[in-house]
Amino acid sequence: MKVSRFTLYTNWLLDRFPLKKMWHDHMVHYYAPKNFNFWYFFGSLALMVLVNQIITGILLTMNYKPDAELAFDSVEYIMRDVNWGWLVRYMHSTGASAFFIVIYLHMFRGLIYGSYKEPRELVWIFGMLLFLALMAEAFMGYLLPWGQMSYWGAQVIISLFSAIPVIGDDLSLWVRGDYVVSDATLNRFFAFHVIAVPLVLVMLVFLHILALHEVGSNNPDGVEIKKIKDKDGIPLDGIPFHPYYTVKDIVGVAVFIIFFATVIFYMPELGGFFLESNNFIPADPLKTPEHIEPLWYFTPFYAILRAVPDKFAGVIAMFGSIIVLFLLPWLDRSPVKSIRYRGPLFKKAVFLFVVSFFALGYLGMKPPTATLTWFARLFSLIYFSFFLLMPIYSRWEKAKPVPRRVTQPPSLQRFMTEVKTAYYGAPSSKDKNYTLYGSTEFRTYPSKQGLINLCVLLAKKLKASLD
Ligand code: HEM
Repeated sequence: MKVSRFTLYTNWLLDRFPLKKMWHDHMVHYYAPKNFNFWYFFGSLALMVLVNQIITGILLTMNYKPDAELAFDSVEYIMRDVNWGWLVRYMHSTGASAFFIVIYLHMFRGLIYGSYKEPRELVWIFGMLLFLALMAEAFMGYLLPWGQMSYWGAQVIISLFSAIPVIGDDLSLWVRGDYVVSDATLNRFFAFHVIAVPLVLVMLVFLHILALHEVGSNNPDGVEIKKIKDKDGIPLDGIPFHPYYTVKDIVGVAVFIIFFATVIFYMPELGGFFLESNNFIPADPLKTPEHIEPLWYFTPFYAILRAVPDKFAGVIAMFGSIIVLFLLPWLDRSPVKSIRYRGPLFKKAVFLFVVSFFALGYLGMKPPTATLTWFARLFSLIYFSFFLLMPIYSRWEKAKPVPRRVTQPPSLQRFMTEVKTAYYGAPSSKDKNYTLYGSTEFRTYPSKQGLINLCVLLAKKLKASLD
């Protein structure tokens, strides 16, 4: 048989590199729970946005000048004169905000489904390290356009270090590389933003996914699918990640791109949320803007910082509000993972937490009047109480019984039962009392009669939907 040149070359490669093995281990033979829902789109979307940031970042670097005298103008040059420069820049600036939207939703999913609980503590810790790296990346990237907000935002945040007793002043001097934010600061932030932190991000994503694949994915029911396997050792409630979820994720990607493109083409500044108007004014070290505020994704933490009257205590509170997230796997003492089987107390606590996070985000954007500062204190208290009281309320509360197998939404469950009945005949006695859906039958080859029955059922459904 004649073997094509392409096959020859790929075989040569595969004999020397475990590409096929990696694909099988992490895609085809990685069994993910079959009940993933909307919330499970955000991991792959985060991965896609990371790739977008890296590619557009490389393209921007080709024309950007990391020099205090040239930086602002080089960004304007990219926007006006470089072919497609405006698109690349907007993809990068919108990508930064999109990254935080996706990551906040991804983290929220972890929170409501208890994905940080045993055995996924390490997945969560790597995730939190990713979040820290992402914040550092965004903070340093924001200095690069060298606009007024870039300059003064960096000045405010770096000078926070000086509140640390004994070493504070030296530390902020060391971070800036000068007594004020200057060309030296811009150069080092450029180096970190363009190479050091992206390398850390990519490495952490690799570790995050490796750790996840070791223990397997959680799901909206918080049921460990690895506990019930068929005779071949395949989880009964698992389906191969590829092709099922690779295809499903394409739907998420398509919807995401619609939103992403709408922002880029019609509202790239998003009313100052994604790009602030003050940052279209070149940095002026002699002119402090009236109101300095970070971009929206930092404002909840910024509000916590300003809510505390003492500067050093404020810095501790701000960092504490992020550090406390690392401890979540140990703060939560509930015997169940998913919010579906928790009591009303946890649901109310999550609701209050979400309200406090949005409220702090809003307050962090506003000038700090006396009334708003008191509100910021109230919401900071709620924010911290959510975490610090968790060991108490999560243990107190009586959880609902968790099903043995994963569940499906009722309508889909009913439909699947009808499909199964048409396919295989009436359910066997074994399945009768089973209100949950899930079996290995879908992996067996359908009989001819089963297929005919199924076609009849689908035709009836179609007719019913048209009547
Ligand atoms: C660059 C940032 C990140 C990327 C690219 C990323 C990517 C992913 C991917 C692809 C998955 C598997 C698919 C899924 O479950 O959605 C995942 C799962 C997970 N991620 Fe992330 N992630 C990032 C940041 C984070 C952060 C900041 C956290 C939280 C602190 C986090 C916590 C988790 C958890 C707990 C899971 C397992 C979820 C489950 O099985 O229910 N990730 N991540």
